[in-house]
Amino acid sequence: SNPPSEYIWFYNNSKIFSGQQYIISKVSRTQTGIYTCFAQNLLLKTSTKNSIILTVYYLPDGKVTCTVLAANNYKDIILSCLWEGGFPKAELRWVRSHEEENDIVSYSNVTKRKIGLDTPNNSSYSCLASHPVLKSDAICKTTVYSPYGNPRCFAMATKNHEFIMLSCNWEGGLPFVHLWWKDWENNLMANPKESVNMHVLNSNTNYSGKEFTCEANHPLLSSAKKCRFKLEAPALAAQRNTISVYEGSDVQLTCVLKKTYPTSEIIWYNN
Ligand SMILES: *[C@@H]1O[C@H](CO)[C@@H](O)[C@H](O)[C@H]1NC(C)=O
Ligand SMILES: *[C@@H]1O[C@H](CO)[C@@H](O)[C@H](O)[C@H]1NC(C)=O
Repeated sequence: SNPPSEYIWFYNNSKIFSGQQYIISKVSRTQTGIYTCFAQNLLLKTSTKNSIILTVYYLPDGKVTCTVLAANNYKDIILSCLWEGGFPKAELRWVRSHEEENDIVSYSNVTKRKIGLDTPNNSSYSCLASHPVLKSDAICKTTVYSPYGNPRCFAMATKNHEFIMLSCNWEGGLPFVHLWWKDWENNLMANPKESVNMHVLNSNTNYSGKEFTCEANHPLLSSAKKCRFKLEAPALAAQRNTISVYEGSDVQLTCVLKKTYPTSEIIWYNN
């Protein structure tokens, strides 16, 4: 224009700057929006404007995370990869080790379901995350494996023998093992828990001779593993009921715990 025009910049309809060139240094995501350049010539009484939509890309917060869960009654594994937020949303996909599978690409959150028994022990998977801000993909890795050994279970008396605590544990594995308790009639006593399952009973002699079973399952196992014990009220046996001795000699009185579980203490009384 001749004579030259006056330039004004607007951001989302509010005036922010006068001049032809508006420089934003270290732009932030909050500066996203519509920038309008308005040129007016007071001498010629004319004006014109043009708008620019500015988009600012940024990464999601934190890091891409991988988790493994059991599903379908501990028969399947679900690989879950998550990286929420960012603009645009991160593009995620699961790959098996380094060989690429033609797998679904999803945004912010991608899951992959596999049948546990078809999955070899120690299978590794990677989740790749791509985003315009990243030069190369971000990655998280996870290895699916069954835990070492077997579940372990035991009973313990607590708080002046008022309660009996049934304890079952089997740590390790990914996903974690699920453990639950069953009573002597095969009824479920406590719902499945991950890695450790403690169940508390009120002490009661009716439990004597009764068997308690802890069952453990993991998608990579073909069947549940078990551990079990019987609770036993203490039963004492004395070697002899009567003992006669000469005055002045030493006497040793012995009684034997025939059975007890958990442990008992033995106390002697005189009258
Ligand atoms: C400006 O407008 C954009 C797009 O409508 C909006 O996302 C942004 O929050 C607005 N910014 C401010 C400071 O109002
Ligand atoms: C699976 O691998 C883990 C870790 O290497 C090992 O501890 C576990 O015993 C393996 N399970 C079986 C069933 O071989």
